[in-house]
Amino acid sequence: LELLEDMRDNFEQGLVPLSVYNDPELSEVELDRVFNRNWVFLAHESEIPEPGDYVLRTIGEDPWIVVRDESGTIRVLLDSCRHRGAQVCRADKGNTSHFRCPYHGWTYKNSGDLAGVPHRVESYRELDLKQWGLVKAPHVDTHRGLVFACLAADPPELSEYLGGIAWYLDVHLALTEFEVLGDPHRWVVGANWKIGAENFAGDSYHTESVHRSVVEVSLFPSILLKHGVAAQGKRHISGLGGHAANLNHDVGAPEEAQFWGYPSEVTEQFDAEGMDPAQYELAKWSKLSTGTVFPNLSYLCSAFVDAPGRPPGTVLMLRQWQPRGPAAMELWSWILVPKGASDEYKDRVARVATASFSPSGNFEEDDTAIWSTIARTAGSRYARSENLKLNYQMGMPGMAEIERDENWRGPGVALMSDLEDGGQRTVQRRWIEEMLRP
Ligand code: FES
Ligand code: FE
Repeated sequence: LELLEDMRDNFEQGLVPLSVYNDPELSEVELDRVFNRNWVFLAHESEIPEPGDYVLRTIGEDPWIVVRDESGTIRVLLDSCRHRGAQVCRADKGNTSHFRCPYHGWTYKNSGDLAGVPHRVESYRELDLKQWGLVKAPHVDTHRGLVFACLAADPPELSEYLGGIAWYLDVHLALTEFEVLGDPHRWVVGANWKIGAENFAGDSYHTESVHRSVVEVSLFPSILLKHGVAAQGKRHISGLGGHAANLNHDVGAPEEAQFWGYPSEVTEQFDAEGMDPAQYELAKWSKLSTGTVFPNLSYLCSAFVDAPGRPPGTVLMLRQWQPRGPAAMELWSWILVPKGASDEYKDRVARVATASFSPSGNFEEDDTAIWSTIARTAGSRYARSENLKLNYQMGMPGMAEIERDENWRGPGVALMSDLEDGGQRTVQRRWIEEMLRP
């Protein structure tokens, strides 16, 4: 915890101890203080459309079942039998009316209530089934199809927790109804989860270096390689209380793709109702967006071109950085498509998303190969004993002055350059606050 206090004390100078990206003690504390008391994303509603549909997910490192019960209510249940603690959910997803524990056969309804205990009368006589249901997450709520749960006793409402980041999520999600395409990709990366969350919160700086080759083969818009004030329409949004968003609303190029690159078969179904005009304008002219919802959900949207002469398309993805100890994370990645799109279009999106942001994706490999080297240096004895600090000073007072967009109509503070560390610092500031809150 010394490391935390040191981080807090040096934070205003833009200095962050390298060791926080690989520290066994901190990673224990953050399971309690970050994951078990903030709203954490679990699933998209389209993954469990019918009563009995379930998926097995994690909060921090713990297994939780996300299930639609017979009444249609989404329940989040700790996957641990109340008898001896065995996991009762035997698959990553499926449909069931009951979960039957494999150890001694206690059987729970998909609402979590205990329904049957073998030899109940002859062995227990008076067992109160009501007291022995699966543990339910106390707070479950959704935002535009995104299912979240919170384990704190008395948290803010989800809408209050999301605050301004909901506005930026809705620049995507309010356009039409979305569904998850296929199963989420998931794989283990030898890096700390915070690096992913920070990267999507505002590390636009890295694209020109590590992702140059992907843009050079023309798979993604060259806008990715243009940075700074000179790159029209780049906006970094912070001041969202631990969340952050980044947009390229390239208003100067109406002849290019509109609505992130969605083809007309899809944009015809878009609905401006329910969006404020500023959101609709952003959705119409933007080509690229990323963001992070504290603590560990991120999103990405980009126009793509998969073959010369073809209409452009759009990759919209959710990703989650799941802690697995100090130097590993399970990376989860969902592809979202408009429900009404053609199968042919969905197939194109699946291919491009898999080729770019998946275990074998070129963008993904660029990033994760680097991130695991950070875990290695962060875990070094020398970094710890000398308390080495990293530089998160870009865009801070005293550095190159970055103008604020005074006409910005969305929540938060919009800076007119993507060469600044504000989004990443927003995530870090919230993390320190949560970690130091008893
Ligand atoms: Fe589940 Fe015994 S552990 S029935
Ligand atoms: Fe990247």
